[in-house]
Amino acid sequence: MNIVYRKIREDDVEGAIALEQASFADPWPRSAFAEIVDKSDADYYLAEDTDTGTLAGGCVVFRILDEGDITNVAVDERYRGQGIATQLLKYAIEQNEALGIEDFTLEVRQSNAAAIRVYEKCGFESAGVRPGFYDHPKEDGLIMWRYKEGR
Ligand SMILES: CC(C)(COP(=O)(O)OP(=O)(O)OC[C@H]1O[C@@H](n2cnc3c(N)ncnc32)[C@H](O)[C@@H]1OP(=O)(O)O)[C@@H](O)C(=O)NCCC(=O)NCCS
Repeated sequence: MNIVYRKIREDDVEGAIALEQASFADPWPRSAFAEIVDKSDADYYLAEDTDTGTLAGGCVVFRILDEGDITNVAVDERYRGQGIATQLLKYAIEQNEALGIEDFTLEVRQSNAAAIRVYEKCGFESAGVRPGFYDHPKEDGLIMWRYKEGR
């Protein structure tokens, strides 16, 4: 296994859609992935296993002024528990800091202990709850923030 972190290209879109559908109860529609390749205020970052050409993980960052909103964090089941989500997020954060993004936010299901652990390892802290934020099943969302160092 040799994992490389990079931005999505057009020929990765099918893999990103498959990962999304395998990972979430309410996956993004196909059209959203095709659009994100061309957007200037958002990027899809991925982890590729270059030994097999497998798309092992992905995440999206939306940029609004100097804030980054992180969504769609997912790692293929076969690749979980090896630090890939943590490395991918650190990579995505670095890439966006270089573009002037200072603070990052995200929402996560309150029961999603593995994801919360990943976010804490990347410097995120809990900042509140959005009641009933998620469907299928209905669940509260934990809001997390990662502020620029020194703030
Ligand atoms: C959440 C997810 C992205 C994590 O990917 P990953 O590559 O396995 O993450 P990492 O290996 O970087 O880190 C996982 C951490 O969670 C911990 N963990 C795993 N399962 C856990 C559980 N049930 N309870 C608590 N911690 C758990 C691991 O021990 C590890 O922490 P450690 O390094 O301190 O030991 C992956 O499980 C996934 O795709 N889940 C489905 C989609 C999803 O829920 N995405 C998040 C949406 S907000």
